[in-house]
Amino acid sequence: MTDHAGRVALVTGASRGIGEAVARRLAREGLKLALTGRDRSALEPLARELGATAVIYDLTDAGAFVETLASIEVAVGPIDVLVNNAGIAESATLEDTDDALIERTFAVNVMSVFRLCRALVPPMAKRGWGRVINVASNAGLTGYAYTSAYCASKHAVVGLTRALAAEFARTGVTVNAICPGFVDTDMTVRAIDRIVAKTGRTREQARAALEAQSPQRRLVTVDEVAHAVWSLVPHEARGIHGQAIALDGGQVLA
Ligand code: NAI
Repeated sequence: MTDHAGRVALVTGASRGIGEAVARRLAREGLKLALTGRDRSALEPLARELGATAVIYDLTDAGAFVETLASIEVAVGPIDVLVNNAGIAESATLEDTDDALIERTFAVNVMSVFRLCRALVPPMAKRGWGRVINVASNAGLTGYAYTSAYCASKHAVVGLTRALAAEFARTGVTVNAICPGFVDTDMTVRAIDRIVAKTGRTREQARAALEAQSPQRRLVTVDEVAHAVWSLVPHEARGIHGQAIALDGGQVLA
């Protein structure tokens, strides 16, 4: 048996996009899964297919957090691998970035990550093994115009990753962030919609503009992100710790 088979993973935002691909990959590698999402009609069939436990939960609902997490651990056991994937991205000029937009963005992209780490990492440390993989963004490593709330939230996730890596370095828990460039998901489709609406470009032109941000002139696929997440799980990856790993065709050079 490999060291990770039978480990329990929690993937947030697993109903579509990157989260779904991560769930499929971890299931293929033999992990036991709990999947959270808000879209019951997408999450439940996926969970059935993967033999996973589906938990319908809005991550911004702090009041239901403790009870929800307890019910997850009753269903699947203690969480060994936490994949903080759920996130939202809206764009606006700085002047139009009101408090509500900042708070909405931070509630999902930062507070939910903090809360899950605070609840799950100390028990992982006590058990002597754990993996935290935060799906941040290369917007956590560099700035993009018209996305100040999103960029600030993803920089916060990278900062949290580094702080926890320092705090838990000697416990057997690793904490890392994956920082993709534009990935071919609904989130990027919505970015294309916004470019079309604001600039009058065609969809093809808008998509090409996003592809052109990568030196590889393409969008990242969800399977590439899922592979990167998976690659941090095995025992042999234990030295990769506190990293913010860019997965963007070389767009943001370290
Ligand atoms: P998506 O929009 O296709 O999926 C996001 C997932 O997060 C969905 O399952 C959604 O239901 C869930 N989610 C959002 N708010 C939630 C809430 N309040 N409670 C529970 N679940 C919630 O997006 P995608 O592309 O799959 O993104 C996944 C992660 O990857 C996000 O954190 C995003 O910021 C990050 N990312 C995406 C990139 C892209 O170009 N698509 C690039 C870099 C990072």
